[in-house]
Amino acid sequence: MRDRQTEFTAELQNYVYENFNAEDELLKHIANDCWVNAGIPQINITGYQANFLQFLLKAINAKNILEIGTLAGYSSIVMARAVGDDAKILTIEKEQKHADYALKNIIAAGFENKIKIEVCNAHSFVKNYVPSEPLDFVFLDADKSAYFKYLNALTPHIRPGGLVVADNAFAFGFLLDSAPEKNPNEVRSMIGFHQHLLARSDYFTTIVPIGDGMLLSIKK
Ligand SMILES: C[S@@+](CC[C@H](N)C(=O)[O-])C[C@H]1O[C@@H](n2cnc3c(N)ncnc32)[C@H](O)[C@@H]1O
Repeated sequence: MRDRQTEFTAELQNYVYENFNAEDELLKHIANDCWVNAGIPQINITGYQANFLQFLLKAINAKNILEIGTLAGYSSIVMARAVGDDAKILTIEKEQKHADYALKNIIAAGFENKIKIEVCNAHSFVKNYVPSEPLDFVFLDADKSAYFKYLNALTPHIRPGGLVVADNAFAFGFLLDSAPEKNPNEVRSMIGFHQHLLARSDYFTTIVPIGDGMLLSIKK
């Protein structure tokens, strides 16, 4: 059975999603309300992915965190809950509407001192960004075709042992589709991103089939 993984049956999924789930009433409300009342797409990470991110942050005692892609603040709040009071999260969002809505949620969660939102295009942000302390944790969850660009720009600022986590590593399920109906450029660039990271000697990389797939790289 060395080449087989146990089938992730519906029963197993229910068990895992019920027991390893970081989503409380506030996060559930954000995930529903963002679309119903604010017209913001419901594309936040899942409660199980949230639990997984929290595990990673705790494992490395992350204090200096950068997120690209705030949306409604769901994942920022998840991360803020997992780290100590001396930790800081900077999250980048290009849509003012998303940032305004996220700030409301961040205040409701009590993290306005821990999470700072910067409203700008992450492409220009990463060009000039120099953190005051080396980064412990980078969460990439915005435009998939720019992951490569973000990684290269941020690498000098990530400490040895720091983590880069990239969501949607399965490209919305189209990763192996030769003619993907959705975002073909993003699908192609995601495979390129996997291969690029696997070939880099300054990172050790793995992939985890959680949500739409998460690519994890640890800086050597
Ligand atoms: C998948 S959502 C982020 C979800 C969020 N991380 C969560 O799980 O709660 C992606 C967000 O990235 C933003 N975004 C896309 N391209 C961007 C860019 N170039 N610069 C900054 N933000 C960007 C989108 O506006 C959107 O709000």
